[in-house]
Amino acid sequence: MKTKKITFIDLVSKYKPFVEQFHKDLDRVLASGTFILGQEVLRFEESIKHSTKTAGAIGVGNGTDALILCLKAMNIGPRDEVITTSMSYLATASSIALVGATAVCVDIDNSLNLDPDKIEAAITPQTRAILVVHLSGIPADVDQIMKIASRHGLPVIEDCAQAFGAEISGQAVGTFGRLGTISFHPLKNLGTLGDGGIILAQREEDIRWLEQARNHGHKNRDECDFWSINSRLDELHAAFLNTMLEYYPEEVKRRQRLADIYKLELKGVVKFPLVPPGAKPSFNWIMMLVDQREELVKFLAEQGTELKIHYPCLMPDLKSAVKNCRVHGSLKNSRNMVKKIISVPAAEHISESDVRYICEQIKNFYAKTPLILNNTH
Ligand SMILES: Cc1ncc(COP(=O)(O)O)c(C=O)c1O
Repeated sequence: MKTKKITFIDLVSKYKPFVEQFHKDLDRVLASGTFILGQEVLRFEESIKHSTKTAGAIGVGNGTDALILCLKAMNIGPRDEVITTSMSYLATASSIALVGATAVCVDIDNSLNLDPDKIEAAITPQTRAILVVHLSGIPADVDQIMKIASRHGLPVIEDCAQAFGAEISGQAVGTFGRLGTISFHPLKNLGTLGDGGIILAQREEDIRWLEQARNHGHKNRDECDFWSINSRLDELHAAFLNTMLEYYPEEVKRRQRLADIYKLELKGVVKFPLVPPGAKPSFNWIMMLVDQREELVKFLAEQGTELKIHYPCLMPDLKSAVKNCRVHGSLKNSRNMVKKIISVPAAEHISESDVRYICEQIKNFYAKTPLILNNTH
């Protein structure tokens, strides 16, 4: 088979279809003379409210600030605990640590997300919230998590940094809990040309507080009700996001089609994270569980295909986690799965024939090493 080069990400290709419109966006913002909290941000917030059917959408500087502001909106701070997953990008845990609280990392289920069955045992008198992540855009079992949260009177924050556009039974992720956060980092499905984020909020008092909290705590130009950070979505990023948002639903469907091909082609060869019933993932990337991971990565790299691992280290195992982070339980599933996870290309530059080509390579690899595969699967 002839080899070809397939990178995991290609940001030049991602933005290529929008270049002409981006120049118009820049001209429009320049001509407006408003660069912070103007019409572009308002329009983007309105569109997000409409598409997610939520009461409030508050544009902020990035997905990490979004999480920090949500925790602060719930008045979470020192001596408080927040239950979260052990498998996520580190910002999930660091945002909890950065408000002075402790991230209590619990095990994952077969969707690679927070396992609802492990939550109750981790609740202590210090527990103040549950922070659930929809890893790679596959929704967590929020139905169960919301039931547990309401039984214990705990608010839920949904970290949808990787999951904008994912749904469960037609409802957007980020709208199940009290607050939801989204990142528009360039590597996210809907990524701007820099940093950006948004918070989805249901309650009027949260919306009002967050609108002030992203803007120093200002009530108006001259009055300030409380000290807060400066974390606003810029007009220029909002303008770019407004342009791309229109095409976003098609992009999610395209990724779902690629995931279907991977699943069909690799049935019985690798395993896939469980997608909860009724859930439609947005697939920020497509994850698999594989044996002989390092050898597979090397084999595919030799054929020109780049794979990634999201993430090679559990959050509580990071060096930084000595502060304000602890585990609950053995994390048996997490520790097993962190050795098997792999992410395969599915970004904008990847075609259906690329996916078939990658699947062929994976099948070739296991055809050469059948004994070990059969023993460990
Ligand atoms: C799960 C998760 N949470 C939070 C963040 C933080 O988002 P940002 O990079 O926009 O600060 C990320 C970004 O990678 C993420 O993947």
